[in-house]
Amino acid sequence: MIPILIDCDPGHDDALAILTAIAHQEQLEILGITTIGGNQTLEKVTQNAKNILAFVKSEIPLASGQGGPLIKKLEPTDEAHGKSGMDGPYFAGEDYPLVSDNAVTFLAEQLLAASQPVMIVALGPLTNIALLLKTYPELTTKIAGISLMGGGISHGNVTALAEFNSYVDPEAASIVFNSGLPIIMSGLDVTEKAEILLSEINELQHKGPVSHLAYELLHFYHQSGQQFGFINSPIHDLCAVAYLLEPDMFSGTYYFVDVETNEGLSRGQTFADKRLVTDKEKNTLVLETVCRERFANLLIQALAKLDER
Ligand code: BDR
Ligand code: CA
Repeated sequence: MIPILIDCDPGHDDALAILTAIAHQEQLEILGITTIGGNQTLEKVTQNAKNILAFVKSEIPLASGQGGPLIKKLEPTDEAHGKSGMDGPYFAGEDYPLVSDNAVTFLAEQLLAASQPVMIVALGPLTNIALLLKTYPELTTKIAGISLMGGGISHGNVTALAEFNSYVDPEAASIVFNSGLPIIMSGLDVTEKAEILLSEINELQHKGPVSHLAYELLHFYHQSGQQFGFINSPIHDLCAVAYLLEPDMFSGTYYFVDVETNEGLSRGQTFADKRLVTDKEKNTLVLETVCRERFANLLIQALAKLDER
């Protein structure tokens, strides 16, 4: 059993990652979920998290976190995830209790109380996690590692070089990569290979309630992905959860990875020391390949499992 804390900004792919984790609570003990402003404002992503958790009648503690990055202002766009940050399904604005509006304190309390080191699953900009590490350095011993979706060592998606989560808060990302904690990086190198096909999306439509919810999410997400040239839909954030469940569907390489925080063309770029030109220790397992069929199947089966509950 792996104890985990999930930090997220739902987000279609965040939602699917959360659902998959919830379906696998025999393998993952979800100690809590925290939100971070990213795909949309903090208010919207927190409501989206509430909607998902209420839909599956979860009792996982939810806490909201930082509204935006450490230094700059958050400027969410509607492009990828729509106005709500999770467009597609209709939600009446579900009520779900917030145990705290201070994610950093909440995370610290959970770590302190944990009987074994906890894996942090980070699916949005790394602001909450950087603040946690800076505020409570003594708690790093209670963290087993960080499985994160962010970056990409070959290209970006917001700029030519920077991926969304690392672009939104590069300072926070740099703090996390330099924390000394083991990092598993699901960056664009692998997440753009972690696709679900349109035919697989359409099959979800006629299954149970949770599969149908995923259909509505994916239907919107698939259409918005087409504007970026995607034929199939990469479920970026799910990689960070899938790796914990079935690591052998992935392959990757250990590198020293850091993040560019200077202004300019490369702000937010994650770069890997492939030629060992720095004397820095390798800090990150950069995932590079995934078995697409197994990945899609993991999601489809997780949804089917939740349908049965
Ligand atoms: C990342 O950005 C967000 O839009 C997704 O939820 C994912 O975390 C992909 O670049
Ligand atoms: Ca996300």
